[in-house]
Amino acid sequence: MKKYALLLGVSLIALMALGMFSSAIGDSHGGTKGKSAVKAKNEDWKAEFPDYYESWRGTSKSDEIVDMLKKNPQMVILWAGYGFAKDYNKARGHMYGLVSNVNSLRTGAPTGPTDGPMPTACWTCKSPDVQRVIDEDGENEYFTGKWARLGDQIVNTIGCADCHDSESYELTISRDYLARGLEASPVDYSKVDDTQMHSLVCAGCHVEYYFKATEYKDTAGADQKAMVVTLPWSEGFLAEEAEAYYDGIDFADWTHSISKAPMLKAQHPDYELYTTGLHFKRGVSCADCHMPETADGEADHAVSNPMTNIKNSCLNCHDATEEELKATLEIKYNRREQLNQMAMNTLATAHLEAGKAWEAGATEAEMAEVLQLLRSGQWFWDYAIASHGGYIHAPEESLRVLGVAINKGSDARIKLAGILAKHGVMNYEAPDYSTKEKAQALAGVDLEKEIKAKIQFRNTLFKEWTESAIKNGYLDPDARKGMTDNTSYPK
Ligand code: HEC
Ligand code: HEC
Ligand code: HEC
Ligand code: HEC
Repeated sequence: MKKYALLLGVSLIALMALGMFSSAIGDSHGGTKGKSAVKAKNEDWKAEFPDYYESWRGTSKSDEIVDMLKKNPQMVILWAGYGFAKDYNKARGHMYGLVSNVNSLRTGAPTGPTDGPMPTACWTCKSPDVQRVIDEDGENEYFTGKWARLGDQIVNTIGCADCHDSESYELTISRDYLARGLEASPVDYSKVDDTQMHSLVCAGCHVEYYFKATEYKDTAGADQKAMVVTLPWSEGFLAEEAEAYYDGIDFADWTHSISKAPMLKAQHPDYELYTTGLHFKRGVSCADCHMPETADGEADHAVSNPMTNIKNSCLNCHDATEEELKATLEIKYNRREQLNQMAMNTLATAHLEAGKAWEAGATEAEMAEVLQLLRSGQWFWDYAIASHGGYIHAPEESLRVLGVAINKGSDARIKLAGILAKHGVMNYEAPDYSTKEKAQALAGVDLEKEIKAKIQFRNTLFKEWTESAIKNGYLDPDARKGMTDNTSYPK
């Protein structure tokens, strides 16, 4: 820790000197219509910053697909009736952000610009083209219509202009919804310093959000509805505070197809959870671990799992060996996993028992409390684990939130045993959901149909989007060179 005390001393002085860096949040791009200054093509930054460009391309090495539904089939039951029951993989490198989204079975297989399950908002954390299109068309206009509408426009993966201003090159808050979220939050963000910026550039995407239905009139005066990415931050960053926000507006992402509970889906509250941990309290930023300085003193732009780079990412501050840190993290991971498995088993079984209770003739009044416990318990579980790094970002908070989830799931099951008994069902055993296949059969997912349609989409409309984007100068022909084409399904 001595080493850290020294570093902290230096960085505080640096910070004071950096008063001029402090950027007011309102400074972000305006969303006013007109031509955009956003340099969305990552290749347009290459000539000036060849080293940073090459380093950033290093994220393409993290290309492996880890099928989370195979690893944890309970998730299929937990998300029954929602896209996540079809396909859900562990995060990969930023170079894959855009194609992972295109390949996911969750985005479906649109055949044209007005077709498919998802709104345009689904592109929002995948590409610097998002802010370019918002600048050119307007924010509500961007957030209107189907995901497929912008397939030939949103084509560059997560890159330079998502974190840097395209003119001054300084770190920037590139998304207006983040600026609005910060303003709405109880934390004072009126002045943002350098250390905060090293985390806030990530918070444009690594946060919890929902799509807020927003009515407006387009330029022709016609009524339109936008689905605007919105951060539920006005109550605070804790799981219960975000839940209070959603409960307050009576919001549900979907109705569970087995239990009929009005559910919430946590996205990836990495930033929120991180702010509860000791590293955050000690002024360590996301970039300190995920983009540590290389030997040449440059921020490593191959954002990845720091445990593959302990020497640069942790040993800058910690007097420990790589083995010691690995062992510490393994213990933290196992603690989190133990509670994660308990929470998933309890909640998934409760959903199936609720399904049985409906079948046995349970009434809405009898089920109301159970459905609320399922909604809330699953929200807490998801909030703790949707941020994969939570066990290191905020170890204690992750365990606390999982504890609440397990408690609510258990309460639901006790109540369900009573309801089932009242309707003549004794000692009910939920069906086996121990593999992805079994769980998807119970959740009514026709995986083969989904895959077939997706492959057709990849071979037709997606190819057209790419060709059109290259022809119209939105995408560099070499932008996706050297990337692999891994998917969770056979092609
Ligand atoms: C995920 C966010 C992120 C992305 C994407 C990103 N950078 Fe950076 N970049 C940073 C951070 C954080 C720093 C460190 C800034 C500091 O030390 O003050 C940085 C530093 C730099 C610097 C050093 C100058 C400075 O401001 O300190 C340059 C130049 C740079 N990046 C260029 C690029 C280029 C070119 C790309 C695209 C190929 C890119 N960056 C993509 C976050 C990002
Ligand atoms: C424009 C949105 C965006 C920004 C900004 C962004 N990320 Fe990401 N990040 C993503 C998405 C999307 C993925 C998942 C990509 C995939 O699975 O294909 C991801 C993946 C990751 C991963 C997993 C990488 C791996 O190889 O396992 C890490 C770690 C990560 N981001 C950290 C950061 C950090 C730290 C910052 C800020 C310095 C940041 N991200 C900024 C969107 C973003
Ligand atoms: C103290 C170092 C440290 C800090 C600070 C840190 N992380 Fe992490 N993060 C890690 C480690 C270690 C992992 C790897 C967990 C694993 O894969 O087992 C990780 C994992 C992740 C992942 C998941 C990658 C995946 O493969 O799914 C994302 C995303 C991420 N971090 C984003 C962030 C963001 C955003 C911040 C700031 C709000 C942040 N991290 C701050 C150490 C850190
Ligand atoms: C920029 C400096 C910095 C970096 C980089 C950093 N740490 Fe830390 N770490 C700290 C500080 C400061 C503390 C708090 C020490 C205290 O107050 O007792 C801490 C505490 C910890 C703790 C104990 C607290 C907890 O949250 O459980 C662990 C474990 C830890 N760090 C692991 C890591 C690992 C693993 C990495 C690399 C992925 C890493 N740290 C990177 C500065 C850093």
